[in-house]
Amino acid sequence: MSTQTSASSPSDVPRVTTKTLQEMKAGGVPIAMLTAYDFTSARLLDQAGVDVLLVGDSASNVMAGNETTLPMTLDHMIYHAQCVVSAIERALVIVDLPFGTYQGNSKEALVSAIRVMKEAGAHGVKLEGGQAVASTIDRIVTAGIPVMGHLGLTPQSIYNFGSYKVRAKEEQEAEQLLEDAQSLQDAGCFALVLEKIPAGLAKRVTDSIDIPVIGIGAGKGTDGQVLVMHDALGLTTDFNPRFVRRYARLDEEIKGAVGRYIEDVRSRDFPSEDESY
Ligand code: KIV
Repeated sequence: MSTQTSASSPSDVPRVTTKTLQEMKAGGVPIAMLTAYDFTSARLLDQAGVDVLLVGDSASNVMAGNETTLPMTLDHMIYHAQCVVSAIERALVIVDLPFGTYQGNSKEALVSAIRVMKEAGAHGVKLEGGQAVASTIDRIVTAGIPVMGHLGLTPQSIYNFGSYKVRAKEEQEAEQLLEDAQSLQDAGCFALVLEKIPAGLAKRVTDSIDIPVIGIGAGKGTDGQVLVMHDALGLTTDFNPRFVRRYARLDEEIKGAVGRYIEDVRSRDFPSEDESY
């Protein structure tokens, strides 16, 4: 199945668009999404062929070292998004609206989304929540801005949940999540992230709606997967939930390389004649 669309980047690499993702769902081609927050990493992930880059508010944890995502501001997100957008040729770039920039009312949410699109050049926004944010999503989508929803373990509500445990294990919360997913589709979301919910429920949601569903800790029945880049590449070592697969151990690579650099500096092996002017 082709994932080509009419939209092209300056270098004529076919861009991934929201339509591409819809086609991928229809064609049964799983969508690969990763987070990115800076130019250098985003360029590598884009060149590797990732479909969607999420400028997640997880930047709060992995870039700023905060315990939760709550401290992120819109200015922080726009800065990270600008860095990512300037690196990519192919991937769709979606940016999280951070805590406190969309929950107040739909006008405030629209202003936040417009800033992300205008100032960062993003391709869409993501926000957390179900029926409670449906009218807000409708307003943003009506302004022409693609919106990705996010249900299940929504980290901006961590103090409401009280823990990062799996969500929607009980029937009542599972039924609510199914209804929320339908509301988000009806409100105009082009895709939905499901975080840390039982695999069976994620599959039910995926089968019940037409928009692509991307899971993190939601099993293999979704239309795609997302991981935080730092987790996937082994840069974070003290975060080990079951759903993370480590595709590299960059922690070991980096510490080993830096150790060798220090040795070479101490022994005056570095720089050599060839590395000098
Ligand atoms: O902020 C983030 O990285 C996310 C993903 C975990 C989906 O929202």
